[in-house]
Amino acid sequence: MARLESLLVFLSSFLSFVWALGGAIPEMEEAMQIQREQLARFSSFLGPTAQSQSHTKRQSTMTFSNPAAEAFLVDGTTIPDVNFDAGPSWAGLLPISGDPDETRKLFFWFWPTTNASNTKDLIFWTNGGPGCSSLEGFLQENGPISWSWGQAEPTPNPFAWNQLAHMIWVEQPVGTGFSQGTPNITNDDELAAQLVGFFGQFLEIFHELKGNDLWLTGESYAGFYVPRIANFIYENPDLLDLSLQGIYIADPSLTYGVVQEDIPALRFANQNVFPFNSSFMAQLQAASDACGYTDYLDQFITYPPAGPIPFPVGVPEGSTSASAQCRLSLNPVFNIYRVTDTFPNLWSVLGFPRSTQEFIYFNRTDVQDAIHAPHINWEICASKSVYAAGGDKSVASMLTAAGANISTLGNVIEKSVRTVVAHGLADMILIAEGTRIAIQNMTWGGLQGFQTPIEPESFVVDSPVAGVQGVYGNTHTERGLTYIEFYYSGHMTPQFVPWAAFSAISFLLGKQDSPSSG
Ligand SMILES: *[C@@H]1O[C@H](CO)[C@@H](O)[C@H](O)[C@H]1NC(C)=O
Ligand SMILES: *[C@@H]1O[C@H](CO)[C@@H](O)[C@H](O)[C@H]1NC(C)=O
Ligand SMILES: *[C@@H]1O[C@H](CO)[C@@H](O)[C@H](O)[C@H]1NC(C)=O
Ligand SMILES: *[C@@H]1O[C@H](CO)[C@@H](O)[C@H](O)[C@H]1NC(C)=O
Ligand SMILES: *[C@@H]1O[C@H](CO)[C@@H](O)[C@H](O)[C@H]1NC(C)=O
Ligand SMILES: *[C@@H]1O[C@H](CO)[C@@H](O)[C@H](O)[C@H]1NC(C)=O
Repeated sequence: MARLESLLVFLSSFLSFVWALGGAIPEMEEAMQIQREQLARFSSFLGPTAQSQSHTKRQSTMTFSNPAAEAFLVDGTTIPDVNFDAGPSWAGLLPISGDPDETRKLFFWFWPTTNASNTKDLIFWTNGGPGCSSLEGFLQENGPISWSWGQAEPTPNPFAWNQLAHMIWVEQPVGTGFSQGTPNITNDDELAAQLVGFFGQFLEIFHELKGNDLWLTGESYAGFYVPRIANFIYENPDLLDLSLQGIYIADPSLTYGVVQEDIPALRFANQNVFPFNSSFMAQLQAASDACGYTDYLDQFITYPPAGPIPFPVGVPEGSTSASAQCRLSLNPVFNIYRVTDTFPNLWSVLGFPRSTQEFIYFNRTDVQDAIHAPHINWEICASKSVYAAGGDKSVASMLTAAGANISTLGNVIEKSVRTVVAHGLADMILIAEGTRIAIQNMTWGGLQGFQTPIEPESFVVDSPVAGVQGVYGNTHTERGLTYIEFYYSGHMTPQFVPWAAFSAISFLLGKQDSPSSG
């Protein structure tokens, strides 16, 4: 009884101490202060609200004299659910050849640059898959309208790439998104021919863009697409009335899955993002040892490399890393595209990779009407293959095909003004460490791999837009190839660290001397 009384005395004196502070526990007050600061930061980050927009309609830096262009014009004030004037843009389907009976058509959305000084550059963006829609990149990564995971409504994107150049998002190849026709390609040279054919038709209508500098960019499986498209354009310079300058591929598929997924898996798991228990950690360690992965990175990934990098001894075909079952039992909302995600499960209006959406934005007929898209069931990633039976027969871009003396990407690097490969460090669908292995095993400019190590903390961003300043990763450039690793980023780098991707694209275009802007 006495002890209970003294406890109550203690509690009441503690409470009166708290009341004396105006009802707030000091840490709580500090936490609320941090939240207020975050809110203030986010309000500038998300850009002006609909109310504070001026009533004058946004003007275009480009006009197109061909009357046929009119049918593609999208009014930036009437895009469903977008409560601000996004500015004028052009969208629709165009065939991949001039044949009047052509059944294959690609869907595009073209946005003129918002900066009148940048009208000579055109950036092409494609998502990967194969068969995933570039409208995902448009709405959730680098477009002027941002409706990302968990966002209640779309907002202007202060890091939209069309501030730096004209942008065209294309749903390709045939079989992807709104694009029309029956897929029958067997490799990415045929994919490139489709796209170049499309551009021929596009430039007939939007002929003011002819002769522009072209930059090809993309993500994920675009590690196959983009180097092949670039290679095709360099090998067939007369087919396209644009001047290809360079490429940018982020979190790309570049080589064998074993290299980009399995060998680096244990080191990835060890970086403390997975709180696996000790018995499971021991199990992973044993699997890594048995597969010959554990010492592999230290032994073979040297700067410069000692020679062609071998496969780990006795690698089992189709071996996988930490099983989905184990990850999910610990974190029910585990997201392989960004392993740092935790509860709650954020919605995505595109239904991917989350499936908690109420609707799929581009599957709505009002949205389809606004952008001159056909009324079809739009899927973010095609459920049928975009290749003929047998799939993509292309050799991965960092590997040298039998009979060739250089890889596709090696050739593209040698012919381009700049080539950038980027990778988010919290991506586990493809792991950055594996991209390092692939680079060290590739020959370009007469040498194999990078000759000197990648300096840690060498990628620094100083963004005037968000007030973001500081180290955002690692970067290294040799012989025309720049590699960048982004901290804090999963697979979709412009979605997660938009200021960092923006700085990298600004470098690609030659607007700054290094990927760092700080
Ligand atoms: C427009 O682009 C030019 C050239 O790239 C640059 O110097 C200028 O700062 C840009 N303006 C804005 C508002 O970003
Ligand atoms: C695919 O089909 C089209 C006709 O729709 C044909 O012209 C083309 O040659 C075919 N391509 C391949 C690679 O078979
Ligand atoms: C490295 O390149 C060589 C030669 O191109 C190839 O045989 C080998 O499989 C590659 N190693 C890895 C780990 O990708
Ligand atoms: C350790 O983790 C593994 C994988 O999640 C699980 O199967 C096992 O039951 C866990 N062991 C303990 C003691 O929690
Ligand atoms: C897309 O919309 C159509 C109706 O327009 C509907 O039948 C279909 O289920 C929708 N697809 C998804 C994945 O919501
Ligand atoms: C590689 O082959 C091409 C022809 O396919 C040739 O033009 C080039 O000189 C060769 N390069 C080297 C380094 O042997």
